[in-house]
Amino acid sequence: MGIGRRKVTVVGAGNVGATVAQRTVEKRLADVVLVDIVEGVPQGKALDLAEAAPVEGYDCKLTGTNSYSETAGSDIVVITAGIPRKPGMSRDDLLKTNYGIVKGVTEQVAANSPNCIIIVVSNPLDAMVQTAYRVSKFPRNRVIGMAGVLDSARFRAFIGMELKVSVENIHAFVLGGHGDTMVPLPRYSTVSGIPITELMSRETIDRLVQRTRDGGAEITGLLKTSAWYAPGTSVVEMIDAILNDRKKILPCAVYLEGEYGLSGVCVGVPAKLGAQGVEQVIEITLTLEERAALQKSAGAVRELADVIGV
Ligand code: NAI
Ligand code: 2OP
Repeated sequence: MGIGRRKVTVVGAGNVGATVAQRTVEKRLADVVLVDIVEGVPQGKALDLAEAAPVEGYDCKLTGTNSYSETAGSDIVVITAGIPRKPGMSRDDLLKTNYGIVKGVTEQVAANSPNCIIIVVSNPLDAMVQTAYRVSKFPRNRVIGMAGVLDSARFRAFIGMELKVSVENIHAFVLGGHGDTMVPLPRYSTVSGIPITELMSRETIDRLVQRTRDGGAEITGLLKTSAWYAPGTSVVEMIDAILNDRKKILPCAVYLEGEYGLSGVCVGVPAKLGAQGVEQVIEITLTLEERAALQKSAGAVRELADVIGV
């Protein structure tokens, strides 16, 4: 990663993409290029954000475009292009449409920013990360999926609401695929270092775990489209960890090569994020039950990956 101004491209200037752009410049992390196929939308949103700059005081440059030439040499490219979930639709229903979109976008991204780190957001998340990994031919440390940060944030929010404690005190871990088989880990979820298993009954934890699994659907039921504030800010935590080489341990979807007994599949695991992207996959000890749940989740991702042949 070069010295000087950093460049983040966000492909898909919709709800999640625009939120990523907004929070990236508000945190003064990088110049941002917004790309979309719809004419006028990325240009309009970039201009609107540039006009907010004097009030917010950021000097980041904002560009909106329908072409990839302006994305050249990006440090990070976030892929949010695709269609979101409508009520009653599963993430997997999105599979084939978003596969075509993510494949095409990744080809452009790899050609224009061959050294970038890709963060995939489009759903179904894990299968789309695997698509970007295969199509870009980048090493696995440079193709990362965002889902675990969001799923953990939702779990943390629900724990905070239940115990009426500051969210700052709460850490939580959610592993596995971003879907109905995700694996929240109560044993590794803590309030000021105290495992939540010491603070809540099994029934309460089970209820919060289920609400976390259904977190995306709960918002979609209310908004008739999927969430963007929590997803957007979760992506920006990953951007910050990478651009500032923070070595943060965050749950990310990564192509596994034997970790947790899994190979050749992208799934959510704890990862150390720094300037090189995924610098280490952290292997934690799982109970037999947790391990089985992770295997099941990886199996669900594999089924999707097989359908699209990635
Ligand atoms: P949106 O519909 O608001 O935005 C998507 C944008 O992608 C649209 O502006 C559309 O014109 C654009 N687009 C479509 N095809 C394109 C292409 N080939 N090139 C460039 N742009 C293209 O959708 P939203 O809410 O922003 O969600 C985006 C994606 O992120 C969806 O697939 C959604 O399911 C997923 N998502 C994933 C989350 C996660 O945790 N991984 C969380 C929230 C959303
Ligand atoms: C979410 O979890 C739809 O994946 C999206 O909000």
